[in-house]
Amino acid sequence: MKLRRIVLTAAIMCCTIPAVALDINDKTFTTENAGKVVFSHATHLKKKNARSPNISCKACHNDAMKKGVHYTMAQMEHGKSCGQCHNGTKAFALAKCTVCHKVRNITFKVKETGPVLFKHTAHMQKKGDCSACHNTLFKTGSNPRVSMADMEKGKSCGACHNGKKAFTLSDCSRCHPTKEITFIEKDTGNVTFSHKNHTSLYRCGECHTLIFTTDRSKTKVSMKEMEAGKSCGSCHDGKTAFSVATDKDCDKCHKM
Ligand code: HEC
Ligand code: HEC
Ligand code: HEC
Ligand code: HEC
Ligand code: HEC
Ligand code: HEC
Ligand code: HEC
Ligand code: HEC
Ligand code: HEC
Repeated sequence: MKLRRIVLTAAIMCCTIPAVALDINDKTFTTENAGKVVFSHATHLKKKNARSPNISCKACHNDAMKKGVHYTMAQMEHGKSCGQCHNGTKAFALAKCTVCHKVRNITFKVKETGPVLFKHTAHMQKKGDCSACHNTLFKTGSNPRVSMADMEKGKSCGACHNGKKAFTLSDCSRCHPTKEITFIEKDTGNVTFSHKNHTSLYRCGECHTLIFTTDRSKTKVSMKEMEAGKSCGSCHDGKTAFSVATDKDCDKCHKM
């Protein structure tokens, strides 16, 4: 261990030892509100191209990047640490946050509507800034659940999705995706339920989960039960919408 450190230190000092022969550890930087950054010696020491001829140890290990010292992005913008090269000339610019800061897609499990997908990358294009959300709106760890009512008051996604900074919360299906549903009925013809048509008239909450769950494996409903006001019959009663009991209207739903 001690010997290895001496060899490595010597290598940094003189830079003549062939770099690839050394197996130097990856370094993981942990930041408070911008996740983790993994720096790989191995991939950097291999970069010998027109943009960056012969990366030597001293190209990084110098006064602009002292070991054990923490640098801020602002300092990097002024040429310190990674910013010695990641300036858009020698290597990709610091504006490409997510190449260094590891982020992933986040899935919120919502019982009433099915999953909501949040894509970090889609949120980084306009303004590459982690601090727009972290840690004021969201911690990078676990967060308490937020209701739509709280979002309407500006919490969580609602801080931006208010029709000004980004599309409004009333565009439910842009966050809670829906698809067309087919009920297989061999004898009378399949029935297609169109979320698209119905959500132009109703909000998710008017059907879910009062009339329908979002779990398709739940019980089947008969036409008799519909006539008594269940399932589609809660609206298709001849008043709110065409009736499930009218013979001439069967084929508005059942397609042979
Ligand atoms: C492209 C930049 C870069 C180059 C080139 C580079 N290093 Fe590093 N090195 C780093 C960074 C970043 C760290 C982490 C610094 C810190 O901990 O603050 C590091 C850390 C180290 C460490 C400490 C590792 C540990 O586990 O804590 C050693 C030893 C080291 N480098 C040796 C070398 C040697 C030898 C070379 C030349 C063969 C070299 N480095 C070339 C960027 C570089
Ligand atoms: C070339 C790689 C790289 C890129 C690109 C990069 N960062 Fe960093 N960032 C780091 C490293 C490494 C650290 C930790 C530095 C340390 O601790 O010495 C860090 C630290 C931070 C920190 C904590 C320190 C501080 O400045 O407050 C924040 C916040 C941050 N980055 C945000 C961003 C944002 C936002 C972007 C895009 C605009 C970005 N970073 C682009 C490598 C990068
Ligand atoms: C001596 C110049 C130099 C320094 C300093 C440097 N890099 Fe790089 N880095 C490069 C070059 C050159 C490439 C490859 C060219 C490109 O992708 O633009 C690269 C590529 C990368 C990549 C993408 C390749 C991969 O490993 O997946 C990451 C991530 C990265 N650097 C992170 C960092 C971080 C974090 C730091 C600071 C701790 C840093 N770099 C400091 C020159 C440097
Ligand atoms: C538009 C808002 C927004 C921006 C900007 C944003 N994040 Fe996030 N981030 C989130 C949300 C939402 C979560 C999930 C929170 C939850 O699970 O409750 C999250 C979670 C995380 C997590 C923890 C989840 C995991 O992957 O383990 C990390 C790490 C993270 N973000 C890093 C970043 C970094 C780095 C940046 C900048 C490059 C960034 N975020 C920019 C909204 C954002
Ligand atoms: C810091 C502001 C901000 C916050 C917070 C935020 N967004 Fe966004 N979001 C935007 C902007 C800006 C756009 C792009 C403009 C637009 O489409 O209106 C966008 C676009 C989107 C898109 C369409 C792009 C895509 O991913 O396909 C979805 C979906 C989305 N946001 C979901 C969410 C969810 C879910 C949350 C909460 C977990 C959230 N956003 C929080 C600003 C934000
Ligand atoms: C910008 C994205 C976005 C939009 C637009 C959106 N939601 Fe949500 N919704 C979410 C996220 C994310 C959660 C999960 C939040 C959590 O668990 O912290 C959620 C949770 C919910 C919940 C469970 C929590 C609660 O409030 O009962 C319901 C129900 C819901 N949404 C319905 C709707 C309806 C109806 C609309 C349209 C009026 C809508 N959502 C619009 C992102 C969105
Ligand atoms: C007019 C009533 C109605 C409205 C409004 C409605 N849904 Fe549905 N939804 C249904 C029906 C019917 C099903 C199928 C349920 C079943 O078979 O038990 C369904 C099923 C689902 C499923 C499960 C899909 C599958 O294949 O498993 C999801 C997810 C869903 N709805 C989300 C939503 C969201 C999000 C909204 C609002 C944007 C919404 N729904 C609005 C009637 C509605
Ligand atoms: C508003 C749409 C709608 C209308 C109108 C409708 N149905 Fe249906 N029907 C359905 C759906 C949806 C199912 C499957 C329900 C399930 O699987 O939970 C179904 C199931 C059935 C079934 C199998 C279940 C059972 O009750 O035996 C028969 C038979 C049937 N319909 C006949 C008819 C006839 C005959 C008419 C016209 C008098 C009619 N339906 C009108 C939507 C409709
Ligand atoms: C919350 C009330 C409501 C529920 C529940 C509902 N519908 Fe509808 N539906 C309507 C209204 C309102 C219309 C438009 C008025 C009309 O056509 O009479 C409509 C129109 C339709 C149409 C014609 C437009 C189109 O999408 O092709 C079909 C087919 C249909 N519904 C099928 C169904 C089926 C199948 C179910 C049950 C799985 C169902 N609906 C449940 C209210 C509802």
